[in-house]
Amino acid sequence: MLATSVPPPPFTNAGKKRFDSCCFVIPTKAARAIGYAHFSLPLVTNFEHMNIVAISGSLREKSSNTALVHALQSVAPEGMTISIVDIGNLPLFNQDDEAVFPAAAQKLKDAVAAADGLFIATPEYNRSISGVLKNAIDWLSRPYGKNSFVRKPVLVAGVSGGKIGTAVAQSHLRQILLYLDADIIGQPELYLGPAHEIFDAEGNITDDSTKALLTKALGVLASRGG
Ligand SMILES: Cc1cc2nc3c(=O)[nH]c(=O)nc-3n(C[C@H](O)[C@H](O)[C@H](O)COP(=O)(O)O)c2cc1C
Repeated sequence: MLATSVPPPPFTNAGKKRFDSCCFVIPTKAARAIGYAHFSLPLVTNFEHMNIVAISGSLREKSSNTALVHALQSVAPEGMTISIVDIGNLPLFNQDDEAVFPAAAQKLKDAVAAADGLFIATPEYNRSISGVLKNAIDWLSRPYGKNSFVRKPVLVAGVSGGKIGTAVAQSHLRQILLYLDADIIGQPELYLGPAHEIFDAEGNITDDSTKALLTKALGVLASRGG
C-alpha cells in the first residue's frame, strides 16, 4: 500500500532576521603570524539596535588592548553600538560582598545583561589573562545562579607587542568562558600584533586588513546575539 504524505508548508522566514551565509578567507597582518584566518560567516545584515559591550583587560594608560576597544566603533558595522565598560573601578572580589553587590559590579552585570554580545580584549600577563580581567569575570559569574555569561555570545581578542603574544592568554580566557557556559565565538581568532603596526600614536587602527577583520568579526558576534 502506498503511504500518503502531506507536503510540507512552504518555507518562510518572514519576521525573522535575515542571514547571508558566506565564507571569507582573509589574509591579515595578524593572521599572517599564524597562517590565514578561515571562517564562515552567518552574517546578520541589519545591525540597528545591536549593542556590544567591550572590555579591555588592561588598565595601562597607553594600553593597546584599550586602544582596540576604543577603536571598535570606527570599524563596527553600521548601526551597531559599542559600549565600553571600564573594569578598573571594580573592588577586588570578595564572596562576603555577594549578598549586597557593590554598585560598580552591579553596573557591570547590568551592562552585560543588556548586551547582545561581549567583546573582550585581553593582554597576556605571565602566560595568562590579567588579574583585573579575572576579577571582573569573577564578579560577573556571581552570585551563584546569576552567572552573566550563560549563553552570552563572547568574542575574544588580544593585542600585544609581539606577533602571537596573547595566544596563551586567549586560550586561558576561552577555558574560563567555556566553564561559565558562554557562547564563545570560535572563528575568527584575533591575535593582533605587533601593536605598533596596527595603531598610530593616537590609538587609531591604521592597518586596513585588521579593520576588515574586526568588522567581519563583530558581524559574527552580532549574528549570535540579539
Ligand atoms: C605582569 C606582566 C606580565 C607579562 N607577561 C607576558 C607574557 O606572559 N607574554 C607576553 O607576550 N607578554 C607579557 N607581558 C607584556 C604585555 O603583554 C604587554 O605589556 C602588553 O602590551 C600589555 O597589554 P596592554 O598594551 O594592553 O597594556 C607582560 C606584562 C606584564 C606587566
